[in-house]
Amino acid sequence: EQIQAQIADFRIENKEQLEQFRLQFINRKSVIAELLAGLKDIAPEDRKAVGAQLNNLKNAAQTRFDEAAAALENSASSFVAPPKDLTLPAIPFAQGTRHPLSLVRSEIIGIFERIGFNISEGPEIEDDWHNFTALNFPPNHPARDMQDTFFVEKNPDIALRTHTSSVQVRVMENSKPPIRTLSPGRVYRNEAISARAHCMFHQVEGLYIDRNVSFADLKQTLYYFVKELFGSDVKIRFRPSFFPFTEPSAEIDISCRICNGDGCQMCKHSGWVEIGGAGMVDPNVLNNCGINPEEYTGFAFGMGIERITNLKYQIRDLRLFTENDVRFLRQFTHIG
Ligand code: PHE
Repeated sequence: EQIQAQIADFRIENKEQLEQFRLQFINRKSVIAELLAGLKDIAPEDRKAVGAQLNNLKNAAQTRFDEAAAALENSASSFVAPPKDLTLPAIPFAQGTRHPLSLVRSEIIGIFERIGFNISEGPEIEDDWHNFTALNFPPNHPARDMQDTFFVEKNPDIALRTHTSSVQVRVMENSKPPIRTLSPGRVYRNEAISARAHCMFHQVEGLYIDRNVSFADLKQTLYYFVKELFGSDVKIRFRPSFFPFTEPSAEIDISCRICNGDGCQMCKHSGWVEIGGAGMVDPNVLNNCGINPEEYTGFAFGMGIERITNLKYQIRDLRLFTENDVRFLRQFTHIG
């Protein structure tokens, strides 16, 4: 009983007192341990009762110790720090930057989302049907040539997609008009790497299918787009062109921002620079994808994201996008 009272009354307010308590009541040489050791000298008929009492004491000591230790621990963590010096400069940390192509892709997506386009994606490894055949490429079209296309397998042909027009086919096969979709993604062509060409680059495809869609809708949509992206002083022009999957087809030029219209390497001194191709979706393509060309018409366009990024940020060498030179990438820290 005496020891019980001692255990209960022991002051434990700091680590030293806690240690003293441990030595006195819990340690191998504590009073309780000594009493337990003396148990063998007690008459056998009393041993059980005394042993049980001692055990209770031992448990009480351990409980008291654990509680006191926990309480000390808590009060240590609620320690109040001295007031912070808010005038100290912040500790600098290396913040990463978004890649310029990613910034421009997001900006393009935002512009088209505002006029009701959704976003769609397709695989980079494509079959012949989606990359060529459904898009009305004749069997011997030069674009299917080994020189342009990276083939993964031959017969049946599987290749790295050469353009995002393959996603048009997938969307048309899987949904019903009206369709308004934008498909950004990587494309591959077997070209030597230089300042102006790469074997891997990015395109963004647009597709709009509905009743009574006309070439005027195409023009106005792209006009809206370039003004949003480059500012209201940019000019746009369409040049007649040819793609197997659009009829009529056009190449889209904008006034060159790098030379401000005076002529430079980028625009081959014409004051205009091409940003992509476009046209009215060929009726054969609509048929191939299960859409009735008597009922629906549509336009499609495809643009190079690298080309647009070059023009927007006056970048003159495509290779910078894949070299991961932080001196280049850091320049985009404050954009977007
Ligand atoms: N797919 C074409 C290209 O890679 C671009 C394009 C897309 C043209 C859609 C017309 C319509 O160059």
